[in-house]
Amino acid sequence: MKKKVLITGGTGFIGSHTAVEFINEGYKVLIIDNLSNSQIEVLKGIEKITGIKPEFYNFDLTDKQKTENFFKEHQNIDAIIHFAAYKAVGESVEQPLKYYQNNLISLMNLLEMMDRYQSTSFVFSSSCTVYGEPDELPVKESTPVKPAISPYGNTKQIAEEIIRDYMNVKPNLKSIALRYFNPVGAHESAEIGELPIGVPANLVPFITQTAIGIRKQLSVFGNDYNTPDGTAIRDYIHVVDLAKAHVVATNRLLENKNKNNFEIFNIGTGTGISVLEVIKSFEKVSGQKLNYKIVERRAGDVEQVYADTSYANIELGWKAEKSLDEMMLSAWNWEKKLHSNQ
Ligand code: WQD
Repeated sequence: MKKKVLITGGTGFIGSHTAVEFINEGYKVLIIDNLSNSQIEVLKGIEKITGIKPEFYNFDLTDKQKTENFFKEHQNIDAIIHFAAYKAVGESVEQPLKYYQNNLISLMNLLEMMDRYQSTSFVFSSSCTVYGEPDELPVKESTPVKPAISPYGNTKQIAEEIIRDYMNVKPNLKSIALRYFNPVGAHESAEIGELPIGVPANLVPFITQTAIGIRKQLSVFGNDYNTPDGTAIRDYIHVVDLAKAHVVATNRLLENKNKNNFEIFNIGTGTGISVLEVIKSFEKVSGQKLNYKIVERRAGDVEQVYADTSYANIELGWKAEKSLDEMMLSAWNWEKKLHSNQ
């Protein structure tokens, strides 16, 4: 009998890549998504890659009745992978209640259903944003969490605390939070990838949209940081490596290998890369010069954050494998594919 996973937010960027890896691993995949920040055509992309179209349920997880009805209908879900959340840092500053309501009510509804319908394993999409401007580099899971600089980041911190408090009183449940660093790139097939709506806030989609001609010029937010080339440093990780980490984390829980019923892992490459190094890699793999200019720093940006991944490497037996060039080439191939269809 196939193990069954529910992927919330499964038509999103990371969710869709994770669905592919679970299907490749032999799991049956169900997706819940309200399509507020993704497109239903993503299901076709998953099917083209795997030959299997996941069961799809279109509703909002903040609707408790609909969420309960779903679990009544699907009692034997082995694990829940929870991506569904708003994640635009800037928007969260403008509309904090939208973020607290959506991201936290949906989480609490899911946790309640886990207990009621005995879906015992929960993998949560957390973020390195919880470290803020970190006290130490590379950041460990034990590095102190800093007061969030955005309501979005705060919803991730509060979510981890809600899960921790709930696991403390539900010994029959177990959870892993994965703190992502910067997910970039796309599946090598270019059948799925990042679909930013409107002007991309994130670096890599802005780069590929500039290269393909949608954007005139990339603004590099500051080159006066205390870093080798002056631009800010991040830990960019290929979205497929990140997706695989969810399968490994789920297998750990289903095989009862977890050491306690709430564990946290940094999911990055362990290598800090600057904005200019990302641009250089992109120019190399695309064979074209990128039009960019250095401008002022962006408010809220941290100077450097990258992961100490030894805990995930040892405990999960997981390690990121793809290089920065592979991340950039896959992102570029996806951008070109997007525009070949239009
Ligand atoms: C990366 C670097 C920018 C755009 C955010 C969220 C984080 C997570 C990942 C959800 C920074 C620079 C960017 C541009 C630039 N999201 N940059 N010009 O800010 O590290 O993380 O996305 O979980 O929570 O905070 O990612 O891609 O926006 O920026 O120079 O047009 O690129 O200053 O140094 P970030 P990013």
